[in-house]
Formats: sequence, structure tokens, C-alpha cells
Amino acid sequence: MSTNSSKKKLVAVITGGNSGVGLMTAERLIIVNGDEGVEICLVCRNKQRAETAKNSLLKTHPNATVDIVLIDTSSIASVIKGAKELRVKYKHIDLLYLNAGAFLVRRGINWSHMMSEIFDSESPGQKMLHMFTTGEGLLLQGDSVTEEGLQQVFATNLFGHFVLVQELKSVLGNESPSQVIWTSSRASVKSSFNVNDMQHKNGQDPYGSSKFGIDLMSVALNERMNKQKVYSHTCCPGLVLTNLTSAIFPMWIWYMLLPFFLLMRILISNFNMTACNGSESLVWLSQQNPEKLDPHSRYESNTSFLGKRYVTSRKLPVDVGPGDRLFKQCDSLYQKFKKGLPID
Ligand SMILES: NC(=O)c1ccc[n+]([C@@H]2O[C@H](COP(=O)([O-])OP(=O)(O)OC[C@H]3O[C@@H](n4cnc5c(N)ncnc54)[C@H](OP(=O)(O)O)[C@@H]3O)[C@@H](O)[C@H]2O)c1
Repeated sequence: MSTNSSKKKLVAVITGGNSGVGLMTAERLIIVNGDEGVEICLVCRNKQRAETAKNSLLKTHPNATVDIVLIDTSSIASVIKGAKELRVKYKHIDLLYLNAGAFLVRRGINWSHMMSEIFDSESPGQKMLHMFTTGEGLLLQGDSVTEEGLQQVFATNLFGHFVLVQELKSVLGNESPSQVIWTSSRASVKSSFNVNDMQHKNGQDPYGSSKFGIDLMSVALNERMNKQKVYSHTCCPGLVLTNLTSAIFPMWIWYMLLPFFLLMRILISNFNMTACNGSESLVWLSQQNPEKLDPHSRYESNTSFLGKRYVTSRKLPVDVGPGDRLFKQCDSLYQKFKKGLPID
């Protein structure tokens, strides 16, 4: 972070840090800040996968400090327990990456919706471009209910992270700034989100809804936490081939389609494909003065046709009012958990 003295060792906590964009962000933070310049904490749900990721980082950066805290972001009990461990380990967290994400594809491509959207549209080309760059309406999604009675995608992507921020308040901001960096998506869809159904129990796009919720929540956090020097921003890694996308198609299909995606970069700059390209906005944000960033914009990773990585910002269709309502509803759900009350 540019406002910090270069001598200070940064603490970067990354949920979903054991693979894909999260793991690459960890590695690039070590490269940018030096082995001695940053302390990485991989927040993961699986010990073995976390250890493998830690070892892979230490193999190339033997002098780096890499720690692990186990948290399943879809389980609030696990978030509260893990946050306690984080508070004991770190006096101050400079960078809190809320990156863990679930996208449950259960039934493949939504062919009928895709075709009708394209052919019923007045400009099919533009519609197709929109669908392929955001994923909106392209895939039939699944969701499930966690043991605690929450919708899985909402809990993993949004609510678990909300609780983590609340539980870490005492080690964020105050003496020096902290950045909360949410991995959102171009698939964040305003029309999929309904504040009266924030868990998306009744919709067909739990992922798009949860990511729009993230965009809204970030605005609400800034309203409440900027005075404590906590700055929240959202970013999008673009299309990246990771475990998440391999749930949509097997990797071999993605690799067969790779030349097409690389060619399409002439038109579509967020076909980043590699985790290194996709992590650009996450790393870039860590190098900015957070006070100067726009809290109503999402920062997006892009790759040019010639392979150059860059970041653009996109104004979000988010307002303080709905963000405030979402915050209050999440807070009331969180308080119920803390008091052991049943949730509805
Ligand atoms: N790939 C894309 O094209 C794309 C596009 C836009 C946005 N994104 C976002 O980018 C972020 C990173 O995804 P990725 O593409 O790098 O995929 P990935 O490699 O599958 O990473 C997702 C990470 O989230 C973790 N995770 C999932 N559910 C969790 C839970 N309940 N508790 C704790 N950790 C959990 C996974 O852990 P396990 O290894 O244990 O499963 C994994 O470390 C996600 O938020 C995703 O929505 C990705």
C-alpha cells in the first residue's frame, strides 16, 4: 500500500488462498514486496490443500513468511473461530482479500435461455458479447443449504466474508490504513439481487446475486469504516482458467477453446485466462493509496491482445441506500448467530 512506509512488513490475509487467483495473488505480493516485505496468511478450508499451497510458495520464496488459518467461509462458526486465531496472530492486517468463492454449476449450459436471449435481442451481437463477458444467464446454477441453514453460495461468497470483517474490526485500520479487497465478478448482476431475498432462495442466479451483494456491501463498509481508515474495494479477475471454471467444462475443453479466447482478446479484454493475468487488479489495488480510489467502482483485470496486463475501473450500479439495507440485514443475521438464536 503506497501510504505505508516501505520498511513496514505488510500483513496480507487471503481467503481462498490455496488455488487460482488467490494463490497467485499471494505469490505476486511476495514478488512485489520482497520475501521479507510481506507476511502472507492463506485462509483455506482444507488443511492439506493449504499446506500444498504454502509449500509451493516456500519452494520459490524460501525466505517468505507464509501462514495458514483454516476457515470455511460458508460456516459462520468456522469464521468466528478462525477470526479469533487471526486476531491472536496479527496486531494489524494491512490487506484483507475476501476472495474465496463458490460457483455451483449443476446442470450445465442454459441453452434455451441463451438462444432466446440472443435471438430475441434487437442487437444479438452485443447481447452475445455481454453474455460471454459476464456469464449472465449462460449457465444453469445450483445451490444448497448449509448445516447452519444458510444458502451455500450466499454464505461462502458474501455472508461469511461479512462476518470475517466484523470479527476482525479490532485489527483493521486505526493506526494505519487497511484495505479490504473483495473478489467480485463481471457476473455481478443487479437484476439478480433482491435485498428482500438476499440469500437468493428464490432465484436462479445465486452467484450473480452474491457478487452484486459484494459490490453493495463494499459501498456500505466504506460508509461505516473509512473513518477508522478501513477502505473497501471490489475487483474482478475476468475469465481465468481455475478450479472454478473447470466445474463448468473439463479443462481439456477449455484448452481446446484457448486459441479462440486468445483471439477474442481483440474485442474482449477480460479474457485473462491465466491466474497471473487475473490477479492483476488484486495486486494493483494493494499498491494504490486506498483513499484515492473510487468506492463506487470495481477494478477489473484485463489483458491486451499482445498479452499486456492492465487494470480498468467500472462504475457500479450501486447506491448507498440498498447497501445500507443489506448491511443491516447481514448484521442482524450475524447477531442471531452470536446469540445462538434460530435463523429463518
Ligand atoms: N475464474 C474465473 O473466471 C473468475 C471470474 C470472476 C470471478 N472469479 C472469482 O475469483 C475468486 C477466486 O476463484 P478462482 O477462479 O481462483 O477459483 P478457485 O481456484 O476454485 O479458487 C476458489 C477458492 O475459494 C475457496 N473456497 C471455496 N469455497 C470455500 C469455502 N466454503 N470456504 C473457504 N474457501 C472456499 C477454494 O477452496 P478449495 O480449494 O478448498 O475449494 C479456493 O481456494 C472467486 O471469488 C471467484 O468467484 C473467478
